[in-house]
Amino acid sequence: MLDRRSFLGSAAAASLAAPIGAQALTSVPLPAADLHAKNEDAYWAALRKQFLIPADVVNLNVGTVGSSPRPVLKAIFDGFETTEQMTQEGSEDYPIWGYGAWDQYRKPFADFMGAKVEQMAILRNCTEANSYIANGFDMKPGDEVLISDEEHGSGEMPWMLRSRRYGVVVKKFAMPKPAKNAAEILNRISDAIMPKTRIIFVSHISTSTGVVLPAKEIAALARSKGIISAFDGAHAPGMMKVDLNDIGCDLYTGSMHKWLFATKGTGFLYLRDRSVMDRVWNTIATGGYDDPARMADRYMQIGSSCIPTLMGLNAAIGFASSIGMDRIEARNRMLADYIHAEMMKRGAQDWTSPDPALRCAIATVNVPPVQRMELQDWLWKNHKVRIRGGNPSKLRLATPYFLSKADIDRFLGLFDEYRKMKGA
Ligand SMILES: Cc1ncc(COP(=O)(O)O)c(C=O)c1O
Repeated sequence: MLDRRSFLGSAAAASLAAPIGAQALTSVPLPAADLHAKNEDAYWAALRKQFLIPADVVNLNVGTVGSSPRPVLKAIFDGFETTEQMTQEGSEDYPIWGYGAWDQYRKPFADFMGAKVEQMAILRNCTEANSYIANGFDMKPGDEVLISDEEHGSGEMPWMLRSRRYGVVVKKFAMPKPAKNAAEILNRISDAIMPKTRIIFVSHISTSTGVVLPAKEIAALARSKGIISAFDGAHAPGMMKVDLNDIGCDLYTGSMHKWLFATKGTGFLYLRDRSVMDRVWNTIATGGYDDPARMADRYMQIGSSCIPTLMGLNAAIGFASSIGMDRIEARNRMLADYIHAEMMKRGAQDWTSPDPALRCAIATVNVPPVQRMELQDWLWKNHKVRIRGGNPSKLRLATPYFLSKADIDRFLGLFDEYRKMKGA
């Protein structure tokens, strides 16, 4: 166990900053609608103030979890205050979701993601949603699921568990590193499809490299072979514009607490239509789970869950929509392209795609002999810059719209300083 001194001296102490008080949530005005046209930098700087992240912290790791801006926090806190009064209108109404349809939260999110309400189940995170897919299909021992070698543990482990318990075979194809074009990825998937492949399960945006896989083409390939297509889109909502029905996949999952900056504990499962739903068993169940007429809502019958969480989700959708997903995506991309180009100038190896169309707001680079964990600790503990990556030397640099070029320059300057200090 950590003693008090080492605890206070650790990076964790920074996350235990004093509460700022409810008043502060509304005291910072949102930028005026026309500010973007008049002065783009001022617009983004004003939006940056909607986040409680201290002004001197540079957060290049939204990839793990986002920070909810003030209007989202306000909706959550107000939600607790109102719902905990237990004065709900109906005698059967209680401040929980997990029983019932909750269209007032499902519908705005479905609209935001280019889906219909009956295709969308809100769950508590992407891991939960991925588990629904891995557990959901009837498969015989020896039947295969095809995944990439870049899946997050929350995508791969539900399948490994099923494999150990029931003999389903998990086959992996190697993603090209870096992925130079979409055809290269599609060819690897196509070559790995076997007669027993029942499901292709891949990330839409790779957690480790940030590569945006050609989802529409993968879904079409799977369909042409009679194989189910399922995507782990943990990073997609809020990072880039997504139109689920346009992708044409069978299943899609994601987290809203990363790039959409919604409440922690928000995830979703999309199921294309009734023919898919008829094949997917629930993993968690309470009354109503087996009523096919309920469509995707039946996957939300999961028992008592937190209503203010969903109020925060609606506020997060409102916040992102007030900026506009086109604008958010363009800004995310511009910042990622900038950090990517700067790291290339510094001799980094590209672990994301050199093709800007195959990446969005995550640039992963390999910088041997720099030890990423050492650098990551040094940046956070000494300079309030947060990054993440993979050992030994990969840096995953995530660039949410609220960062500025100056923030990125600060990281770059520190990276140069660190390398000099280490003679690396
Ligand atoms: C690709 C991918 N899938 C799933 C997850 C897990 O998401 P959650 O914590 O919402 O379950 C992550 C988290 O980083 C991820 O990157």
